[in-house]
Amino acid sequence: MSSIQWFPGHMNAARKKAAETMKTTDLVIEVLDARIPLASCNPMVEELRLFRQRPSLKILNKSDLADPAVTKEWIDFFEKGSHTRAVAISARHPAEVARIPGICQQIVPNRGEASKPLRMMIMGIPNVGKSTLMNMLLKRRVAAVGDEPAVTKSQQRLYLNKGMILIDTPGMLWPKIRYPDDGMMLAASHAVGVNALIEEEVAVFLAEVLLDRYPGLLAARYGMETTDLDGFGVVESVAKRRGFKVRGGDFDMEKASQILLNDYRSGSLGRISLETPETRKAMMAAFDAAATAEKSVRESKSPDSGRD
Ligand code: G4P
Repeated sequence: MSSIQWFPGHMNAARKKAAETMKTTDLVIEVLDARIPLASCNPMVEELRLFRQRPSLKILNKSDLADPAVTKEWIDFFEKGSHTRAVAISARHPAEVARIPGICQQIVPNRGEASKPLRMMIMGIPNVGKSTLMNMLLKRRVAAVGDEPAVTKSQQRLYLNKGMILIDTPGMLWPKIRYPDDGMMLAASHAVGVNALIEEEVAVFLAEVLLDRYPGLLAARYGMETTDLDGFGVVESVAKRRGFKVRGGDFDMEKASQILLNDYRSGSLGRISLETPETRKAMMAAFDAAATAEKSVRESKSPDSGRD
């Protein structure tokens, strides 16, 4: 499986700026994608905030698209973390967004007046819905809202009211993703753009998760019998059922991949969470065990091994 990596230069600059802003921040608001809460959680942000010992509010956004039972598990998971509150919302729903300032005030009760404003740094990876959330919080349009990753590029300070300042930061990713599955989940959820070739791989990855945990949704959406299928077979079956063919008569896997991904992204397939605390633990353990095994094979093959 390919590993998806990135780190455009402006993200490097954004990291430096974020580290600086953290010094004068009272609360770190991190917007996550409720369908992939840890895959969309930037380890650099956690590192910066723990270094400065700042409390955190994790907002699991797009919860209207995620599996509600799994979202509950994630809230419990995050609230066990150091100085962390977690809340699930949909930034498109004004009543849910309206709860946020009160929650922030509860977390930092000793600030929130004009002379002592509550300074909140808001962070999130591209396309997680940060601009939508901010527009809703401020009740005006403050940043470009779009579906292309990394639209928001510079930091800005915005007054929520006299005693609350929101410091917006650019959608920031991190230099190296440890787990290849995270790259796949981020691409499936459109936090990173990928080319058509990798898009097919991402669609197969998505299909495998769906087969494992939501086969009923695949059957309902595409009328396919999933029993004997693997991920590739699911994408092929989408092409077959929709009559997608390329010249020469082969199935159009590219188009079928796009359909499957779009149906997941838009919620047309149903409410789906790509990871649960349990699947994530298993994924990390399997990856780390494979990495350790690979390392010991490498070491045993190295010319120095076996020498005194
Ligand atoms: P960003 O600043 O973090 O990069 O993300 P942005 O707000 O631009 O949102 C990215 C896309 O996600 C937008 O869709 C936005 O409407 C959608 N979105 C944000 N929050 C939610 C949510 O809670 N639930 C759902 N279902 N979608 C959400 P878009 O297709 O680019 O635009 P449009 O659909 O709003 O026209």
